[in-house]
Amino acid sequence: MKKVYLQTFGCQMNEADSEEMMLTLAAKGCTQTQKLEEADIVLVNTCTIREHAEHKAISYLGRLAKWKAKKEGRKIIFTGCAAQRLGQKIKKKFPHTDIVNGAKNIDNFSSVIEKADLFEDQNTQPLSAPANSPIALVNIMRGCSCKCSYCIVPYVRGEAYSLDPKNILSQVKVALESGAKEIVLLGQTVNAYNYKGFSFSKLLREICSFDKLLRLRYLSPHPMFINEEFLQTLKDCPKIARHIHLPIQSGSTRILADMKRNYTREELLAKLKALREIGIEISTDIIVGYPKETEEDFKDTLTLCQEAQFSAAYCFKFSPRKGTPAALFKELDQKIVEKRLDILLNEIKQSSKDAYARQIATKQQVLFETPTNGRTSNNFWVRTKEKYPVGAVVDLQIKESKDTILLA
Ligand code: 5AD
Ligand code: SF4
Repeated sequence: MKKVYLQTFGCQMNEADSEEMMLTLAAKGCTQTQKLEEADIVLVNTCTIREHAEHKAISYLGRLAKWKAKKEGRKIIFTGCAAQRLGQKIKKKFPHTDIVNGAKNIDNFSSVIEKADLFEDQNTQPLSAPANSPIALVNIMRGCSCKCSYCIVPYVRGEAYSLDPKNILSQVKVALESGAKEIVLLGQTVNAYNYKGFSFSKLLREICSFDKLLRLRYLSPHPMFINEEFLQTLKDCPKIARHIHLPIQSGSTRILADMKRNYTREELLAKLKALREIGIEISTDIIVGYPKETEEDFKDTLTLCQEAQFSAAYCFKFSPRKGTPAALFKELDQKIVEKRLDILLNEIKQSSKDAYARQIATKQQVLFETPTNGRTSNNFWVRTKEKYPVGAVVDLQIKESKDTILLA
């Protein structure tokens, strides 16, 4: 029986794709190992959203040459977004790579590995079920059609398409019946989901009607697709997490227009306010140092953050990605970008600290992901002295906040 070591880089979409590929490998008689040394196959699922992410994946692949040389018959599978962008060039540069399968071709993973003859001495075993986790990731769309000026995702993942709700609902049902408490719906613009008129809000409502479901999350929504129907669904369905990770990218209308984000600062502020009024905590992604970002534009981002009081924000320095429109613009001086990033990170640190402090003395429903760590519906980590079974759901009084964790 072949043992597979999995290395996933990047977002939760990649985590979900990795799970899917592992199931395919399990169906071929493979088992997963946590130890690289005992593996026969390494599956590297990669990200290319920023140059740094791609470098990480490639240097990992480079290091695997030594691993492969140590034992006859070892194989390396390189998949995902960096694999899509670089294609067969990877094999030229790293001849120790056996299979390159890009993100657009994930649905064909099964036939790709069959053709590659990885399993000549296959000893077929019954399919091993995935580890029981209280959280199940479910893809509801693939690709992205937004074409934000800086972003490579539409080029490596292709145009957006929504998956059939029948299949999504049966996947959710299976996950809940095998013990999942929380479902996370995934898509690059998850709230753009629409299957022949069956909207994202309708899907949320249908999933919430499963008795066994405790909590429903979704990643990542786009501000453009936040509408009245969605806000009403949040109000009506308390099982939907009281948290949204809503990438804003910038607080300047001028930069947002250049990025082709399809919303203004004012529209964004109104949507953030509406979400807050329903009791939703908000976290975000922000790009600093987008070409053409002036001091004034940056200030707009800063003041928007002060107003929005994000509970967390991932702040990224602009990274030019070849083939995207923004890669053709002149980059800003890196010293200026570093300085802006520093200022923004300080601002976020403060608003995050405030958000954690606001939770003190509240009662929260905690879903335990480890025996002493769980998450609240509004997405704060809680640590306890007492131990609970993984998957336990416990109402706890928050006593203290410490950095980015609540103590109960
Ligand atoms: N440079 C910097 N950050 C980027 N992101 C996407 N493309 C780029 C880029 N070229 C960020 C966005 C997105 C997150 C996943 O990555 O903030 O929301
Ligand atoms: Fe990239 Fe924009 Fe699509 Fe998000 S919405 S994946 S940033 S193109």
